[in-house]
Amino acid sequence: MEYRTGLGWDVHRTEPGRLLILGGVRIDADFGLEGHSDADVLSHAVTDALLGAVALGDIGMHFPDSDPRWKGCDSLVFLRHALQLVGEAGYALVNVDSTVILERPKLKDYRLPIRRKLAETLGLDLDHVSVKFKTAEKVGPVGEGRSAEAQAIVSIVRE
Ligand code: C5P
Ligand code: MG
Repeated sequence: MEYRTGLGWDVHRTEPGRLLILGGVRIDADFGLEGHSDADVLSHAVTDALLGAVALGDIGMHFPDSDPRWKGCDSLVFLRHALQLVGEAGYALVNVDSTVILERPKLKDYRLPIRRKLAETLGLDLDHVSVKFKTAEKVGPVGEGRSAEAQAIVSIVRE
């Protein structure tokens, strides 16, 4: 069987008055993330991982932030599109592992809803979708609460 992997990373600034959305799930917080779309940093990292696995560039190539169509866009749209490209390249997604790095709020109670949303969006069983959370130990822009980051890795297999 031919396997490939893909890696994704993203960062967004925090901003008061914006929504905080991670993996398509609304998180209760007194700030959100700044961006052209809904700024779902986790979905963006997973999207880049999917695109990377089939060597089809990155999210900005497919969804330029200069395009008004993607203003305020639900980032699950990007995720579904990247999954479709993986399928068109002749591969099926096997699993996703990811990490969100955010100083606060505590996200662990959101783990299951986020995993469910990603699993549903990507057509995976729940036990093939992993979401981890880390603080940045109060160090650097993430640690100071000025930004949030996400990392993702996917495996795909030739169908
Ligand atoms: O970053 P640190 O190692 O201190 O995180 C400890 C645990 O806290 C993580 O394993 C994770 O489960 C949880 N966590 C969380 N929400 C965050 C950051 C970490 O629930 N924003
Ligand atoms: Mg992004």
